[in-house]
Amino acid sequence: MAKFISVAQLKGGAGKSTIATNLAGCLAREFRTGLIDADMPQGTSMRWAALREDPRLTVVTAESAADLAREAEALDDLCDVVVIDLPPRSLKFLREIMPFTDLVIMPLTASAPDVWATEQLVEVVREAKKTSKRLKARLVWNRLRASKASDAFLAGTGEALRAKELSSHLASRTAYVEAMGRGLTVTEWSDAKARAEFETFLGEVREQLRLG
Ligand SMILES: Nc1ncnc2c1ncn2[C@@H]1O[C@H](COP(=O)(O)OP(=O)(O)OP(=O)(O)O)[C@@H](O)[C@H]1O
Ligand SMILES: [Mg+2]
Repeated sequence: MAKFISVAQLKGGAGKSTIATNLAGCLAREFRTGLIDADMPQGTSMRWAALREDPRLTVVTAESAADLAREAEALDDLCDVVVIDLPPRSLKFLREIMPFTDLVIMPLTASAPDVWATEQLVEVVREAKKTSKRLKARLVWNRLRASKASDAFLAGTGEALRAKELSSHLASRTAYVEAMGRGLTVTEWSDAKARAEFETFLGEVREQLRLG
C-alpha cells in the first residue's frame, strides 16, 4: 500500500510540476517512489525524469482519467509513496484521483486568480472527503516575494478558503528553474536557502503522511 500525494491546482503555472518533481526526487532518496505525470502532452515531470535517469524512481504517464486510475492502482503495490503531477483545469482528473489520495498539496501564488481557482479545488476536496477518511489537503504558498503587501495578502486567505496551510513557504528563486531544467532537485542545487526551505517543506509533507 503506497501513500499518494496529489499535487493539484486548477490554475496553470502555480508550481505543480516544480513541487511534484522536487518531492519525488527527494522522497526517492529513502522510499520506493512513483511519479505519475498526468499532464500530457506537456509532460513536464516526464521530461525532468528523463534527464534525471534515477533508477530509484518509477515514472509513468497518464493520458486520460481512466489511465490515471490504472497507473495509480499499478503503483500502489510497487511503491511506498507516489507523487502525482496533475494537469490544470481538469476536474475530471482531480475527481478520479481523490479516492487514492492521502494528501493533496495545493500550490498557490499570492495572486487573486490563484486564490479564486483554489476555491473550486477546495470544494472538490471537501466533496471527496465525505467518502474518504484518509484524505487530507494542505495549501502551500509558492513563488513568494517577501514584502509587507504579500504578508497582508497571505494573512487570512487560508481561513477565507477554509483550507489548512503548511507553515513552510516556497520563495521565488531561480534555483527552482535551474534545477528543473537539469533533472535535479533544488536540494541538489547550489542555493542553500532554496535547499533549506524545500527540506523544511518536505519534513512537513512527511509529517502529514506519517512517513517515517
Ligand atoms: N518557487 C519558484 N521560484 C521560481 N520559479 C518557480 C517557482 N515555482 C515554479 N517556478 C517556475 O514557474 C513556472 C511554472 O511552474 P510549474 O511548471 O511548476 O507550474 P505548473 O503548475 O506545473 O504549471 P502548469 O499548470 O502549466 O502545469 C516554471 O517556469 C517554473 O520553473
Ligand atoms: Mg505542470
